[in-house]
Amino acid sequence: MNSKELRKAWIDFYERNGHVNIGAASLIGDGTTGVLFNVAGMQPLMPYLLGKQHPMGKRLCNIQGCIRTNDIESVGDSSHVTFFEMMGSWSLGDYFKEERTKWTYELLTDVFELPIERLATTVFEGDETAPRDEETAKLKEMVGFLPENIFYLPKSENWWELDRGPCGPDSEIFYITDTKPCGPNCTPACDCGHYVEIGNDVFMQYEKVADDKYVLLSKKNVDTGWGFERILAFLNETGDVYLTDLFKNAIEILEEASGKRYKEEEKSTISMRIIADHIRTSVMLLGDTNHLVPSNVGAGYILRRLIRRAVRHARNLNISTKVFEELAINFIDNVYGEFYPNLVQSKDFILAELNKEISKFEKTINLGMKEFDKVILRLSDKGLNTIDGESSFKLYDTYGFPIELTQELAEDKGFTVDMNGFEEKFREHQEKSRTVDTGKFKGGLESAGEMETKYHTATHLLNAALKRVIGPEVHQRGSNITAERMRFDFSCDHKLSEEEKKKTEDLVNEWIKQDLKVSYETMSKNDALKSGAECMFIEKYPDEVKVYSIGDVSKELCGGPHVEHTGVLGHFKIKKEESSSAGVRRIKAILTEE
Ligand code: SER
Repeated sequence: MNSKELRKAWIDFYERNGHVNIGAASLIGDGTTGVLFNVAGMQPLMPYLLGKQHPMGKRLCNIQGCIRTNDIESVGDSSHVTFFEMMGSWSLGDYFKEERTKWTYELLTDVFELPIERLATTVFEGDETAPRDEETAKLKEMVGFLPENIFYLPKSENWWELDRGPCGPDSEIFYITDTKPCGPNCTPACDCGHYVEIGNDVFMQYEKVADDKYVLLSKKNVDTGWGFERILAFLNETGDVYLTDLFKNAIEILEEASGKRYKEEEKSTISMRIIADHIRTSVMLLGDTNHLVPSNVGAGYILRRLIRRAVRHARNLNISTKVFEELAINFIDNVYGEFYPNLVQSKDFILAELNKEISKFEKTINLGMKEFDKVILRLSDKGLNTIDGESSFKLYDTYGFPIELTQELAEDKGFTVDMNGFEEKFREHQEKSRTVDTGKFKGGLESAGEMETKYHTATHLLNAALKRVIGPEVHQRGSNITAERMRFDFSCDHKLSEEEKKKTEDLVNEWIKQDLKVSYETMSKNDALKSGAECMFIEKYPDEVKVYSIGDVSKELCGGPHVEHTGVLGHFKIKKEESSSAGVRRIKAILTEE
């Protein structure tokens, strides 16, 4: 089964069983779950898992791209990737354990034709949060799983949750590989490679409302997420995701460029996998519907790290980074374009941004590597093996080495990095650039929190500008801010004309230029209403509220925080204006330096 056939088999199976394919959402987290990226297929469905009615019904399925950045360091082996697709299906208060277990078995053994001896499964062993899941264990045995391959495991292994939101005990599925078990007590909890996780069925019956505090949901859901790449690898008995048709061409391109064979020797194989993975993920992020670009904060920093790490591994393979463009085109044209039309539409943008970031880094990497070698030599001479904050900050600041890259290079040499020292230098610099106009570096070192504060203030300005350009009937309907951009939903019955957009943008920029003072007063809700302040979602606020004023152009009830003067916002740019829902429009906007 190739990747296209697997996509079809998953969706066909669920459609046959009454599910609706809801398609994939953006890879960039919407800020509501405390994570930068979409890490699971269930993430965009949070409100519906908590009880809201989904417009497409109670049985849903899709194939959703996910990014898990905690896996960056693990990329290089045969199964880890930073971007992966999750084949998902959901019961929103509809079927539960019985149907789920039956379908899991049917999919694995009938549709995928995986031998049952190769499959293991786990269930929750129970604790004070929720009972031991004997029901699922019995059902698993009844449908045909081998009793010796069913394991009870604790919460650390068999419970799915994000920081807050819908959660519950889960039942995972593992492929049993040819790698020898590490000992007589080897279980799927062990990462020796004997058991590789390929899927997870979560029985979502709880909502996590605070640390260690769970409440029962009114409806029981099932959240299923199975790993597309890994299943593809086992279906084709490659045991290596980089040998599936998703990566086949990419690896061939790298083999040809380097003159080395994949798997010929460990070091170059690791570099090939890292480059193939990181360029694939970069293509997906740059071409995402929310268009991420490399930067020094938040999600953009991860993208920068991926591209720069790939550049470094190109050096290991002794190949030119020109090959990256070929890799990107291959992923867009041959592998993903058919399923992600946004990649095809944004092809020029993806290639341009990728090349821009590569050349930015390449301008300094040679000098940076020389500097790095000098640091190592100097410290070795002194009998030291920790890179101090000053040196690692210089590599970051002057040569564009993400700190993680320095850590990785250091590790190769048997060194560590003094992270406290680095952070101290970072903060010192931040202080300086706040008080002195450093020209060399504005905005580059801002923390995600500072950017979010700026976007927060820009939201108030945008709200005020829209009221003037369109009319006082415009009200905020929602907003979402990340360190990279703002999204603002507002009531309006028509698509904004080019002229309206331009006027709004100009007005916000004019107010930024005027460097208006931002201040607040604390008052009762009633006084806030009387003061004429914009009071959206007033019921969510405590009795005593803050009313923020920006010069005399905006007055809004808000919890803050904000910047002190609008002048620091830079330049405001509307990137997109679109419909959000009936009578509600959505603006996506960014702040840039000039
Ligand atoms: N949310 C679960 C997971 O990510 C199943 O989709 O493992």
